Amino acid sequence: LNVMVAAAMKAGRTLARDFGEVENLQVSRKGPGDFVSAADKKAEQTLIAELSRARPGYGFLCEETGAVEGPDKSHRWIIDPLDGTTNFLHGIPIFAISIALEREGQIVAGVVFNPVMNELFLAEKGGGAFMNDRRLRVAVRSELPDALIGTGIPFVGHGEHGKYLRTLAAVMAEVAGVRRAGAAALDLAWTAAGRFDGFWETGLHPWDIAAGLLILREAGGFVTDMVGGDSMLTSGEVVAGNEAIQRQLLALLQRATPPAAARAS
Ligand code: IPD
Repeated sequence: LNVMVAAAMKAGRTLARDFGEVENLQVSRKGPGDFVSAADKKAEQTLIAELSRARPGYGFLCEETGAVEGPDKSHRWIIDPLDGTTNFLHGIPIFAISIALEREGQIVAGVVFNPVMNELFLAEKGGGAFMNDRRLRVAVRSELPDALIGTGIPFVGHGEHGKYLRTLAAVMAEVAGVRRAGAAALDLAWTAAGRFDGFWETGLHPWDIAAGLLILREAGGFVTDMVGGDSMLTSGEVVAGNEAIQRQLLALLQRATPPAAARAS
């Protein structure tokens, strides 16, 4: 964790410097509504350099560079250098660096750092979750009508959000409110901190969620894919909350969109 925090702090300084300097960041489009900038790439290079220096043998799975094998096949870093790129490019301070450490296929440590709000979320497997030294616990609200639920709008072609919008309407009819903050790593960390009572999104990548999933679980949260299983890192589906909210939200999502249809959206 010390290595991960030091790397996140260093990359966080480069992101904080670039925040608000969009005209100087070469921005390109990876897909509909999906952007990458020089800030993402610079932060990723900083993270790779720092983590490789500290643990030379480990492999990487990074949003921009992809998978890089290391001689140590049992460890790999899963990294999103800038989760919430669109927010970042619009001057919205809701974005984060996400670093997870995978050992023998298990996520054993995670760090999510928002350098503008100066909020550092972290967890080690079995050691609890923290934000800036404060222990995190998921919210205690247990009924959907009282719950504030986070979500993300999947990246699909423009005009192809029909299934998602039907699901959203079904959720909105049963909960206190819905928010789309724009950074999945923070959505999970905020659920761990009890800010959101629950969160769901589909179409995510392992680097968006690997650290956040551990932080959420270490804060007492529950998380499954859309069929109630554990495939979040491969399916990209996340349904999260405390035990009661997670169970009710999953049932509601399954009623609104049968899992096979949700996977196709
Ligand atoms: C994105 C954010 C967003 C989520 C997308 C992600 P990026 O990550 O987490 O909230 O809706 O699915 O890809 O591209 O900004 O790193």
